Amino acid sequence: LFRPALLSSRHKETVDQVIAAMIRPLFDDVDTEVRVDMVELIFKMESLMMAMFVGIELPDDPADAVEDIRERMRHINDMASLVWSKNDPMEDAWRVRHQLVDFAETYLLPAIRRARDRDPSQSATSVIETMVDGFESGTMDGELVAREAWMYMAGGVQTSTYTILDTLPHLLGWLEEHPEDREKALDPTSDFLVRVISESVRLDVPNPAIFRIAIRSGTTPAGREYEEGDQFALYTGVANRDPEFFGDDATEFNPYREMREGVPRWGFAFGHGPHACIGRALALGRVSEGSEPEFEGSTVSIIRALVACGMQYDPTDMPQYREDTFKAAFKSFTVRLTHYGLE
Ligand code: HEM
Repeated sequence: LFRPALLSSRHKETVDQVIAAMIRPLFDDVDTEVRVDMVELIFKMESLMMAMFVGIELPDDPADAVEDIRERMRHINDMASLVWSKNDPMEDAWRVRHQLVDFAETYLLPAIRRARDRDPSQSATSVIETMVDGFESGTMDGELVAREAWMYMAGGVQTSTYTILDTLPHLLGWLEEHPEDREKALDPTSDFLVRVISESVRLDVPNPAIFRIAIRSGTTPAGREYEEGDQFALYTGVANRDPEFFGDDATEFNPYREMREGVPRWGFAFGHGPHACIGRALALGRVSEGSEPEFEGSTVSIIRALVACGMQYDPTDMPQYREDTFKAAFKSFTVRLTHYGLE
């Protein structure tokens, strides 16, 4: 599923299609600037992209499905973030459980049936087809395909949405001080936006911590002893600001930061080790230092499209943070788009 050839063709088509389908209509009735809430727009775009990647069949015009998918994604995202919620945990848990079942019945089961009925010589091009092809009834339970589909939706939409939203203030601030970099932001052969997003996600990790529970007692590589059952909270956002690895200006935003060998620009934002993010390439593109990306990630394409449309803050409606979560998450982020710049 993550073969570079498949990602660079199919994923690119998906990303381009969704960007056009969601941004073009904003300008349909107007030829002047529009005010748009990025929290809504980005969330809808990422939800549609991940629905396609997961393999849910959508109407020919994806914009038709977006309102329904968007509403359901809110609950699916909450599934992966219950630990950070400030709401009543029991109410939250059962609301989410109910919504997951409803989503599975409406969207996942039809896609699972279609994947099972398709010509077996067709190779898998979605999460659901991949899971159905690899399904073994002796070792896997019947809910597994749905769980993976929920997990991919939650894993891909929420993180990418937060990453884009968190990047916008850094980027807008940087371009104001360095207007000469605007051209690089518009140039698909420049790695400027990959640097901007990597630096932003290092400073503002979408999840404040990664949790682990020790399945046996042992000692960490740094010498800390732990017992079976101990719970770890890995504060990746704190580690990502460690001056030893990112320099004395580690807390500042600098897309041209000199990196120490072996330290990725995004720090621990995509995790580390065997469970490191499988979707990093989808979000950020396939990047190796000093070379052009083999293909562009969704966060890069979306941000480039917004810059092309002349994105600026709306001084009458500055961004607001949510209060119902311990995460730093935007409630609203209104920008002005001055023109349709994608043709
Ligand atoms: C900028 C966007 C993203 C960020 C910051 C991010 C971050 C992370 C992090 C920190 C982990 C490790 C979690 C842990 O160790 O417990 C992870 C795992 C994962 N991510 Fe992402 N992610 C992003 C985008 C995506 C996308 C687009 C997908 C969809 C393909 C995705 C799917 C997953 C999956 C399935 C895992 C679990 C991997 C495993 O446990 O083996 N992520 N992600």
